[in-house]
Amino acid sequence: MSQPVVLLATPVPEDLAARLRAHFTVVEIPPGESVAAALDDAQRSRINGVLTSLRTRFDASAMDALPNLRVISNFAVGFDNVDIDAASDRGILVCNTPRVLDAAVADLTFGMLIMLGRNMLNCDAYVRDGSWASKGPFPLTRDIRGKTLGLLGMGRIGRMVARAAKAFDMKVIYHNRSRSDEAEGLAEYVERDRLFSESDFVSVHVPLTAETRECVGEREFGLMKSTAYLINTARGAVIDEAALVRALESATIAGAGLDVMVTEPLPADHPLCRLPNVVLQAHVGSATVETRRAMIDLATRNLIDALTGTEPEAMVNPQVWTDSVNAAV
Ligand code: DGY
Repeated sequence: MSQPVVLLATPVPEDLAARLRAHFTVVEIPPGESVAAALDDAQRSRINGVLTSLRTRFDASAMDALPNLRVISNFAVGFDNVDIDAASDRGILVCNTPRVLDAAVADLTFGMLIMLGRNMLNCDAYVRDGSWASKGPFPLTRDIRGKTLGLLGMGRIGRMVARAAKAFDMKVIYHNRSRSDEAEGLAEYVERDRLFSESDFVSVHVPLTAETRECVGEREFGLMKSTAYLINTARGAVIDEAALVRALESATIAGAGLDVMVTEPLPADHPLCRLPNVVLQAHVGSATVETRRAMIDLATRNLIDALTGTEPEAMVNPQVWTDSVNAAV
């Protein structure tokens, strides 16, 4: 029997590429390039598995262009680049990389929280442009200790941020679809509006879905304190970005820390880039050497396991796996 064929739509380190080549025939396309544009019909019909980053979209038509596709292994914990219902309907298993990036994303979240609270970006500019020498001491900022952090979403990353906040003696409240037993002792569950009205920092940790798209907008900014900050390390489209720009320009809220935006890379002429009360990062929550290595290890393992009959560690639509196992017996 001929070897399965896997498509690499994202680069992998050479040792992992060698592991893949030991099991499969490997085809590569440039990251971000659509599969339909990069491969002809005959090449596409041979593909059984894909290893991809968020940059390549797999909607129903992309999947239909790969008639023998069985597994999409996403090099990310988020999977908003993949239409999961369309994948499940076609019996395509989708895998992702949870857990291994929780600490890195939580660290970046907390880093932005401190940068915002202590106005560190503007203080840095104040030193560099000579204002410290010419104008005197930088304006006072506010303590982090004793403030309230509101977490919208209380999954693994939210809980890790909560643990960091505890070390800073912050009060932590959260709102989630349901109360989390694992949040017990870490954070207090509150109704959604209370989360926005009582927090000094609101940090967003929900996946992007049809329900969460633009779920934080004008109404929520109106509920927030004028001294409060919004932090988003989840997905840009969870926030109504135009409403956020208005809230920042009108000082409805004090500032924002954003690692993710609706359009990535963020164009330099975007209104967010002109606002002094915003800390911007380049979707780098998981972008450390150690974490990215752990993610690509897991994504590669998921792909190899799924195509060689071992249950993968992290599946987004596990029913597809269960159905395929049941069909085989
Ligand atoms: C993820 O894994 O979903 C992250 O956003 C990628 O950095």
